[in-house]
Amino acid sequence: MAKKITNLKELPGVGDALARKLANAGYFDIFSIAVTPPHVLSEEAGIGLQTAERIVEAARSYVQIDKFETALEVWEKRKKIKRITTGSKSLDELLGGGVQIYAITEFFGEFGSGKTQIAHQLSVNVQLPEERGGLDSGAIYIDTESTFRPERIRQMAKAVGLDPEEALKRIYFARAYNSNHQMTLVRKAFQMAEEGDFRLLIVDSLTAHFRAEYAGRGQLAERQQLLNKHLHELLRFADTFEAAVVVTNQVLARPDILFGDPTAPIGGHVVGHTATYRVYLRKSKGPRRIARVIDAPDIPESDAVFMIAEEGIRDAV
Ligand SMILES: Nc1ncnc2c1ncn2[C@@H]1O[C@H](COP(=O)(O)OP(=O)(O)OP(=O)(O)O)[C@@H](O)[C@H]1O
Ligand SMILES: [Mg+2]
Repeated sequence: MAKKITNLKELPGVGDALARKLANAGYFDIFSIAVTPPHVLSEEAGIGLQTAERIVEAARSYVQIDKFETALEVWEKRKKIKRITTGSKSLDELLGGGVQIYAITEFFGEFGSGKTQIAHQLSVNVQLPEERGGLDSGAIYIDTESTFRPERIRQMAKAVGLDPEEALKRIYFARAYNSNHQMTLVRKAFQMAEEGDFRLLIVDSLTAHFRAEYAGRGQLAERQQLLNKHLHELLRFADTFEAAVVVTNQVLARPDILFGDPTAPIGGHVVGHTATYRVYLRKSKGPRRIARVIDAPDIPESDAVFMIAEEGIRDAV
């Protein structure tokens, strides 16, 4: 697999000590440094602003992102973007072919709308060979609500013809106990993806801890700032490892603490601006669910119907 990992010490002026500081902050490769604003790198790696500016500039010229390219070249690259099947053709079509790598896909909706079921299904499907809609790779699963169920993974794996034990072995699971711990686990995920092959990172739920811990109105700005940082780290994971990042988010049905739309996802604008694809899930009759993509740069707003079956996520019958 083509990871963009390059030795940081190839950058002029970066020696052992500096490379270690950068790696400790989650920067393992030159590309991720090239796309980080110097003041962020300075803060996260605990290095001076001038040093950060120098490293970022060197990284940019190393990976050649300081130049324009033709739209045809962009198109050639986009054609190569891979996707993970959700298990439902109509949901895949809605997403332009499945859940994309190099992006964060957010599934949001009320309780029971299928967010966790989709997260389970994707962590099985990513293991499939490419011709069957997978990436022949493992998954990292961060669970904040204790709703991860290996039993369910076994059922879904069997249904797609994978050995249940093997499927379980390729999913690395951790429970996040608070928002700070959740962010630390993402750092850990970087280390794991350096060593192993993980092209799907799931955070279920992205926002629950943040909402619980920063509940007061006066804490809103701080919460949004942290969520923003968290999301940028997730996006960096997607870029670095050519991975799909999937997060879930509950909608609040409580107009009293919201501004505007009573079913707006938690996290408001911060999540909206960083997440590349946002999928709103609604309950329909019985096992049926309705998905709608919101605000996507390249997908028209339309609905797809799918269902949650014993076998997993499937087209509605
Ligand atoms: N083994 C199964 N077979 C069929 N359907 C199932 C099975 N397990 C769960 N479901 C369905 O999935 C639904 C739960 O969906 P899920 O846990 O994904 O909701 P969620 O959106 O994550 O909700 P929350 O916001 O509470 O986390 C159940 O209501 C049930 O309809
Ligand atoms: Mg859930």
